[in-house]
Amino acid sequence: MNKKSKSIIIAFDGTAASGKGTVAKSLAEKLRYDYLDTGLMFRKVAYFSIKNKVNLSNIEKICELIDRIDFAKPIPLSEIYFDEVSDLSSKIAEFNIIREKLLNIQREFAKGKNGIVVDGRDIGTVVFPNADFKFFFDANIEERARRRYKQLQKMGKSIKLQKVLEYLKIRDKRDIERKSAPLLKADDSMLIDTTQMTIEESLNIILNKLKFK
Ligand code: C5P
Repeated sequence: MNKKSKSIIIAFDGTAASGKGTVAKSLAEKLRYDYLDTGLMFRKVAYFSIKNKVNLSNIEKICELIDRIDFAKPIPLSEIYFDEVSDLSSKIAEFNIIREKLLNIQREFAKGKNGIVVDGRDIGTVVFPNADFKFFFDANIEERARRRYKQLQKMGKSIKLQKVLEYLKIRDKRDIERKSAPLLKADDSMLIDTTQMTIEESLNIILNKLKFK
């Protein structure tokens, strides 16, 4: 496929800490496409809900908050990647009204772009069901826990590996079992098990599939 022939959408979905975000971001950089991390959007909603002391019993207020969030504004990752935010983001993600609001912003992001790489849980199934390429990332839970643990350690967080594993399991279960846009592999997406792979290796598989190499 010729990289310059048309604007394209590349969708990445998968389980938490499966490597999809890292690979999606590297791919976007390589192709000079815009990158959208939809998980970060849910995390930002959770972060500002905590900051403004709005809890889950007040979904209307969370919706109001969403209207005021500047999703393009960066927040230090160390404030966004900790247990309370991770846990609340997946609880917030169960509400259809919230998903609908974020869905509009996500689809808007695609407009006028040459090409985009988007990662999340429902990109290939709900957000961009007609995406040109779809990938579904997964890896063994112990390996994913180790990766997330290392990430958190680098950020200076002190947490036990066993706890990281437990939290990932809870979040995956919630994401898979929710009624609204659950984590699901689209039939036409390519499954990539990254358990034994480096980031480079997963990226190469994708570049091969895209024939952009
Ligand atoms: O990808 P990340 O782990 O940062 O996402 C945080 C949470 O946001 C997920 O556990 C999931 O509940 C939610 N999410 C979602 N749909 C997306 C992206 C993330 O429900 N497209």
